[in-house]
Amino acid sequence: MQKNFHIITYGCQMNVHESEKIAGMLTELGYSQCENIAAADVVVFNTCCIRENAENHAFGNIGMLKKLKSSKRDMIIAVGGCLPQQMGKADNLHEKFPYVDIIFGTHNLHKFKEYLLLKQTRRKSVIKIEDDAGIIFEDDKPFRTSYPNAWVNITYGCNNFCSYCIVPYVRGRERSRKSENILAEIRNLIKDGYKEITLLGQNVNSYGNGTNDLSFPELLEKIAAMDGKFRLRFMTSHPKDFSEELAKVIAENPKICRQVHLPVQSGSDTILKAMNRKYTSADYLKKIEILKKYVPDCAVTTDLIVGFPGETEEDFKATLELVNRVDYSSAFTFVYSRRNGTVAASMPDQIPEEVSKDRIIRLVELVNTLTREHSKKYVGKTVEVLCEGYDDKKKMYLGRDEYGRMGYFENDKDVIGEFVDIKITNANGVSLIGEKV
Ligand code: 5AD
Ligand code: SF4
Repeated sequence: MQKNFHIITYGCQMNVHESEKIAGMLTELGYSQCENIAAADVVVFNTCCIRENAENHAFGNIGMLKKLKSSKRDMIIAVGGCLPQQMGKADNLHEKFPYVDIIFGTHNLHKFKEYLLLKQTRRKSVIKIEDDAGIIFEDDKPFRTSYPNAWVNITYGCNNFCSYCIVPYVRGRERSRKSENILAEIRNLIKDGYKEITLLGQNVNSYGNGTNDLSFPELLEKIAAMDGKFRLRFMTSHPKDFSEELAKVIAENPKICRQVHLPVQSGSDTILKAMNRKYTSADYLKKIEILKKYVPDCAVTTDLIVGFPGETEEDFKATLELVNRVDYSSAFTFVYSRRNGTVAASMPDQIPEEVSKDRIIRLVELVNTLTREHSKKYVGKTVEVLCEGYDDKKKMYLGRDEYGRMGYFENDKDVIGEFVDIKITNANGVSLIGEKV
């Protein structure tokens, strides 16, 4: 009989790729992916705890499954990822949702298959959280869901301990995969027809630190030298480790996309210091200058946080000023979320919600204005997009250009996985509308 699974993913690209690894284990056991949660024999929540709203979202959805589980007792519900990895949260989850069958964390994700088989032999829930054992996952066989794009982990964990961030506590210390394994994985992906490879790590720039393996720019060069037409992206870069050598490598290798995601978080030096970011706004601007010197057309995107403890109106204005100055092509904007166990959680002067709300509205307005201005410059130009899907509502194909902009276009035949030239006729906000040329 056909057995089905359904995975619900919260959070970042890292989590999306980890869900592909969980899906890989389920496929090996003979399960097939299904769209409808009610038809699933195994439901997995792959959670995120970076901000409170991601956590609440997961809690809400797990709660909603209680009714379905009571009418379908054989269905297995598993909760994994960052949320249960936090100290004490697995027990908390078990108490709150006793009908959850499997609870696992980030450090033992590769054992999910084992836990599922164990659960099938007993009534009791399987609750397994492991401490950071410095594990580097190598032999996983992800069930990739994003053709023609493929994600490849190059580092795990983070050593930076930005004072607001829970990631170092739930993903452990930074460690790099061996370059030979990364290169072999990418060679196979290209052979299998993948056209865009995105290297993943909390801080890709420090790849290879503490080893005598390749540095990050060297790794990029090796990948870019592989045969075939494909694109190479990476995320995320920490500004403190962004080097001139890296800017040169981007400039010299056309396969590396002209888009760099360089999270600044704040434009105020006082706040950057309190965040433990290890750079000033002037240092950051210098890095942008170096990047633009070698790659003048490079699109820069960023992450920004408002309402960090102690942030004054002046500090916030410094962020607005920096955003204007860098002229980001787009940005992710967040309201600071207090995370238990982080240094910032116990800082005095937490910012009232209404102040943060007002600031985020002003920041989003500015970011949207810049994005629209960038979009307008596209009109009349022809760009090459890698078609990655079809939008049923718009009845159009969609694909990104190398600067990361999404373009929509009509076409009679399926061109998913192909590079297509489109002439931009309309630019509305972030996305572009074009005609195939
Ligand atoms: N509150 C708000 N935003 C956060 N980020 C990380 N931790 C927090 C937090 N506690 C944001 C940062 C980071 C992005 C992935 O998430 O901007 O770059
Ligand atoms: Fe979090 Fe900072 Fe590490 Fe990014 S670099 S994951 S923001 S601690």
